[in-house]
Amino acid sequence: MAVFNHPEFDQHEQVVFCSDAETGLKAIIAVHSTRLGPAVGGCRLWDYVTDEDALVDVLRLSRGMTYKNAMAGLPLGGGKSVIIGNAKTIKSEALFRAFGRMVHRLSGSYYSAEDVNITTHDIMQVNQETPFVAGLEGKSGNPGPFTALGTYQGIKAAAQHKFGSADLSGKTVAIQGLGSVGFYLCEHLHKEGAKLIVTDINQDAVNRAVTQFGATAVGLDAIYAADADIYAPCALGATLNDETIPQLKAKIVAGCANNQLKRPEHGDMLRARGILYAPDYVINAGGIINVAFEMRPQGYSAEESTAKVMQIFDTLLTIFNRADSQQLSTSVIADIMAQEIIAKGKTA
Ligand SMILES: NC(=O)c1ccc[n+]([C@@H]2O[C@H](COP(=O)([O-])OP(=O)(O)OC[C@H]3O[C@@H](n4cnc5c(N)ncnc54)[C@H](O)[C@@H]3O)[C@@H](O)[C@H]2O)c1
Repeated sequence: MAVFNHPEFDQHEQVVFCSDAETGLKAIIAVHSTRLGPAVGGCRLWDYVTDEDALVDVLRLSRGMTYKNAMAGLPLGGGKSVIIGNAKTIKSEALFRAFGRMVHRLSGSYYSAEDVNITTHDIMQVNQETPFVAGLEGKSGNPGPFTALGTYQGIKAAAQHKFGSADLSGKTVAIQGLGSVGFYLCEHLHKEGAKLIVTDINQDAVNRAVTQFGATAVGLDAIYAADADIYAPCALGATLNDETIPQLKAKIVAGCANNQLKRPEHGDMLRARGILYAPDYVINAGGIINVAFEMRPQGYSAEESTAKVMQIFDTLLTIFNRADSQQLSTSVIADIMAQEIIAKGKTA
């Protein structure tokens, strides 16, 4: 398995392979960049088919965190970790403590947090071995509502740019995924008077959205062609692809899901169709912004964190305007802006 000449290797500062025979821990920690501050990014527990799959994931995700943190204006770098194994069988306090000891050896160049299949309870166990964790219970708490607030602000910024007004009353938003972010997002949109079209594999969540927000429910595949002004992907990655983009009736794509574009060129495909795309790692930064406020020496403040999350509106307007003037897709412009911030070595 090649690392330094791997296609996903992007001058990562450290890629650490960790194993602990006693607990069965097999993990990879990738520190992509500490140029702006300590690398922060969650730990994902996944039953990867091969070690190579785990490496690809951690290399990509850690680079993504560098860009996300830079664009959010945070004094943080980018990192990520993956634990290889079945979430139903591998979890134990001993395993998470062994992982914590590995994180500790990096002396604070990487801070871990929750991600797929990792709960705040698991992170508390990691925390028994190292202070280099974020997103603990009883501190900044559930990031979902902050991610939802940022996504809501991002949708308003996109409406401002595309329709000339940030007012969403009377606008129709199609939401894919009513989980811990999607449901809070529906609440904001409903409160402002938007009409909602929703889908989820979880029928209970759909029923709640219909009852509480008067949403119209559609089938899983019908969400792309829904008669909506805005499509908000809030479930899976790679839902913007060759099959779905031609179906979209919405003029805006703005949602919280990670890695929405299946491939980078799908950003250009959206632009060619006249659809305004809010780059995922910019619009969904509310959660990491909230976590960053927990990490400050002066301690957490929900008020200050909320104010920073609200800035996602202006960041997106800057991206949209620059994309227009440079005749490039918004996803390309976001990457260029992130690279500029990282090259400068400090956040705005
Ligand atoms: N939670 C956060 O703060 C946060 C921050 C940044 C990005 N994100 C991203 O936002 C997305 C949603 O996160 P979340 O925390 O709400 O997750 P979640 O697991 O709570 O919710 C996801 C929802 O999507 C639904 N879903 C799964 N497959 C589906 C399908 N094929 N069609 C429709 N619905 C489907 C699930 O049933 C669930 O209700 C993910 O991509 C996540 O990576 C979340």
